[in-house]
Amino acid sequence: MTATVRHPVRHDSALKHTTGQALYIDDMPEPPGTLHAALVLSPVASGRLRKLDLAAVAALPGVVVVLGPDDVPGTNDVSASGKGGEPLFAMDRVEFVGQTLAMVVATSLDAARHAAERVAIEVEADEPILDIETALARKAYVQAPATILRGDLDTALKSAAHRLSAEFQVGGQEHFYLEGQIAFALPGEDGDMIVHSSTQHPTEVQHICAHLLGCDFNRITAVVRRLGGGFGGKESNASWVAGAAALAAHKTGRPVKLRLPREIDMIATGKRHPFLYRYSVGFDDDGRVLALDAMLAADAGWSLDLTPGVMARALTHTDNAYWIPHFRAVGYACKTNKQSNTAFRGFGGPQGVVVMEDALDRIAHHLGRDANEIRALNFYAEGRDETPYGQTVDENHLARCWAEVKKGGDYERRRSEIDAFNRASPILKRGLGLFPLKFGISFNLPHMNQAGALVHVYIDGSIRLNHGGTEMGQGLFVKVAQVVAEVFGVDIDRIRPSATSTAEVPNTSPTAASTGSDLNGWAAWEAANTIKQRMIAFAAEHFSASQSDIEFAEGNVRIAKPGSNQVVSFGELAKLCWLGRVSLSATGFYKTPKIHWDGAAMRGRPFFYFSFGAAMAEVAIDTLTGESRVLRADLVQDCGESLNPAIDRGQIEGAFVQGQGWLTCEELWWDKQGKLRTIGPSTYKIPGSRDVPPVFNVTMLANAPSREATIFRSKAVGEPPLLLATAVWTALKDAIAAAGDGRTAVRLDAPATPERILAAIATVKA
Ligand code: MTE
Ligand code: MOS
Repeated sequence: MTATVRHPVRHDSALKHTTGQALYIDDMPEPPGTLHAALVLSPVASGRLRKLDLAAVAALPGVVVVLGPDDVPGTNDVSASGKGGEPLFAMDRVEFVGQTLAMVVATSLDAARHAAERVAIEVEADEPILDIETALARKAYVQAPATILRGDLDTALKSAAHRLSAEFQVGGQEHFYLEGQIAFALPGEDGDMIVHSSTQHPTEVQHICAHLLGCDFNRITAVVRRLGGGFGGKESNASWVAGAAALAAHKTGRPVKLRLPREIDMIATGKRHPFLYRYSVGFDDDGRVLALDAMLAADAGWSLDLTPGVMARALTHTDNAYWIPHFRAVGYACKTNKQSNTAFRGFGGPQGVVVMEDALDRIAHHLGRDANEIRALNFYAEGRDETPYGQTVDENHLARCWAEVKKGGDYERRRSEIDAFNRASPILKRGLGLFPLKFGISFNLPHMNQAGALVHVYIDGSIRLNHGGTEMGQGLFVKVAQVVAEVFGVDIDRIRPSATSTAEVPNTSPTAASTGSDLNGWAAWEAANTIKQRMIAFAAEHFSASQSDIEFAEGNVRIAKPGSNQVVSFGELAKLCWLGRVSLSATGFYKTPKIHWDGAAMRGRPFFYFSFGAAMAEVAIDTLTGESRVLRADLVQDCGESLNPAIDRGQIEGAFVQGQGWLTCEELWWDKQGKLRTIGPSTYKIPGSRDVPPVFNVTMLANAPSREATIFRSKAVGEPPLLLATAVWTALKDAIAAAGDGRTAVRLDAPATPERILAAIATVKA
């Protein structure tokens, strides 16, 4: 069987994942002399560091060395932007509870942690900023406010027949990857260093290790076989963890492993950005939106990290699926004394789209209309298809996804059933929510949209595949292997994916923005095709045939000649090529075409294409306790021509449930001193198997090959379906409204915990 692209091939590590045989960094055999590191963290949210007594703990049993800012031979900075201001070890100011001050390196993890907890720290505390409102009032930002503007907003708002204003908030989200942050650094000769890192961004690990050590990039090799989940949390944060391990290995000359225990991981690393919104929307009697004026304020935490990109994506997704002629979205990236917030699946997109979803619900209530008719009325369409930032929506599946989700979910019938249920049920209420999705694919910094691959064909016909993308469970390795199998017409089992390494493919981008298979798929296709063309040229000469008569299929190469077809196996031809001194190794490179972005003007064509979708969710709430459940979800997701429908289905289901967690049960809670108190599964509730909707219908939009030349006309799938969970939030508001007169618009901040649902019910009843 040569199941290749478009087949539901299972994840290359599926059996290993489920039987515990997949090797993660902590499973690697430790060479003799391996040391373990533990971080010394700030106990105070904001202040001046007065004393850090490292000498006292250096004498504790098992401790080999204690490292602080003075021990960094290169630059004490780990900023992803390269702009500085993000030291590995705080220097004189501390900026949040959990900031790294120093690191203990010891012969065992226990010894390291024991000593790290005993470092005497004195901080002259000052008043921390712990919420968005305070930061806004003090104009405390990590970057200048950014604006997307189109049209004549003030006039349009004033002249609109109707106008509404509202405010709400959404919370952050902990990544809760099952494998915590970890790195294992192995020093070699002349300052060489191999760093095994659970990172989405091996090249940044390489760069940050080199900056800290003050060496050339060529001394550092970052290696990543797999991550036990990343979800954006290992895009920038993995780099400083790796850098710390490399520094310790450099100082001691011994292998050093740094693994953050869950509570330290949660305290020390950034999360999804919480947002506060204030907006005004102007519309006509039919519910057509004429103008939107939105303020989006993100809690960036203490430093810049990846906030510029997150904010750009939030602002370029505030329009979501809707044509808004006069538009202003202003984004404030607020500086607070908290963890530095970072990438999280959707990268600001989820926080952008909720604005219009809230506005459309309010418009519908105001006009006494069905919110979902109002949604469809405002969709991008022919002649109203330019986004506020200047990109044309030139492939638009909104109406199709919408029609399919409503049909598949039997919208009309269930709407009336739910309304009937609510009339008869005083305590339990049900709600229905719909959501249309448009999500832009590409990094909004054009230079990041590039990828490389390296393919070797061995003379037994087996193939080794390497590329710049990292495998974090999302199935990138199997998808790219499918592409290479397709090119060579061989069984996927002949392809061996290999650990991502900066020594094999250099200067890579993070595996993020859902672009992994788009970018690395094409790069691998280029590499494989280069080898294939060489093999064809050789075979034509060797068999005295014409090049066009040579065909690769089912593990064989067929040389069609008039009267006599000859067939050799792929391996036989590989061996013949070798005897004929033909190179069977090639690199491939890809850069996404057509994209450009002016970051100052916030205009351009930042996305190669859009991915579309639609969701319908039904929820039930208990109006006495505020508890909620998702009873059913129907999803339609555009995957173009899916490279692997089994993997994509898993991505859609997983992303939706993760989005559901963000909007319902996952609540981060800091005390008044700014200390995060939700630091493990007992206090921070991620969705479990019983939260998965019992009726869960996932379909991929059929016959929808990408209009752009994506790899085999597929589309990215990693993040977009997370946004589909917005339908759950909308459904909850619908159920809460039913607890009142059904006519009042509901403010429901996320996560919609039982407390918030109860409070919202109290408001609609009042
Ligand atoms: N799926 C799994 N199982 N684990 C992950 O960590 N990360 C998500 C998504 N799906 C993730 C995942 C995020 S945030 C992104 S950006 C994409 O996968 C990255 O991979 P891709 O570009 O290959 O889709
Ligand atoms: Mo995904 S948030 O782009 O790593």
